[in-house]
Amino acid sequence: MVNLGLTIGNLKFRNPVITASGTFGNGSEFDDFIDISRLGGVVLKGTTLELREGNPYPRMAETASGMLNSVGLQNKGIDYFEREIYPRVSAYDTNVIVNINGSYIEDYVALAERVNRLEKIPAIELNISCPNVKMGGMAFGTNPVTAREVIRAVRAAYSKVLIVKLSPNVTDITEFARISEEEGAESVSLINTLLGMAVDVKSMKPSLSTITGGLSGPAVKPVALRMVWQVANAVRIPVIGIGGIMTANDAIEFMLAGASAVQVGTASFIDPQVSVKIVEGIEKYLADKKFSDVKDITGRINR
Ligand code: SIN
Repeated sequence: MVNLGLTIGNLKFRNPVITASGTFGNGSEFDDFIDISRLGGVVLKGTTLELREGNPYPRMAETASGMLNSVGLQNKGIDYFEREIYPRVSAYDTNVIVNINGSYIEDYVALAERVNRLEKIPAIELNISCPNVKMGGMAFGTNPVTAREVIRAVRAAYSKVLIVKLSPNVTDITEFARISEEEGAESVSLINTLLGMAVDVKSMKPSLSTITGGLSGPAVKPVALRMVWQVANAVRIPVIGIGGIMTANDAIEFMLAGASAVQVGTASFIDPQVSVKIVEGIEKYLADKKFSDVKDITGRINR
């Protein structure tokens, strides 16, 4: 028997595999494909105080070993979330995490207060790394002063588990991980997408309406892995690794580099069952290697 369970803050996860925000809808889209209770958790699509239409189309483009998105945080806002989505996701037998976003610190705080009151949401992922909005998002998460301010304000407003989602579009991501830890976050998740672009040579126009967008998928994995390793060596709080995880072996690489858990994102667009396959693959790897506990491989490359 292998123990796949872990704890972040006071929150127990049955295994280290979580689905990434924006790639798993609100979970119900996957009901026909997987049993959500097999997952450690799900992070829901980024939520804001008010409804957002998102960016104009085109806002997705395929690239070599990856994809660009510039969705622009399209969502129906927290009122709709509480009324329509929360009752459904409350029934899930897994950790349901809300990814929160804002243009101003006050937005983040108001949203955090609202989500704090939702009994069946045990954690938020504070998104200070969305590269696709004119205000807020990555602008907060690439400046150490504003990153600290927003994390501090949200921490004061939110009493449950706080995970800060970090941007890779910085010189030294460990600085932002340390700030998150100092301001009381229980965990950091990384990486959000890398700022990129693509051009359609036929039309001679950018492939995305916003010209730039966020790159995800296998193309970013080596960069993400390097950043996870750096951050895991810089902070004591658990690290959640994200970035091009397509297989159990990819997830295990992140764990060996120091991640306590992982998020699976772009891969779910290709195979809606991939997250559960990754849980099974990690379990088999541990059994084959004769490890009894998933925690035994976290940061193993350093030992
Ligand atoms: C988006 O909605 O544009 C993506 C969200 C993110 O990258 O955080």
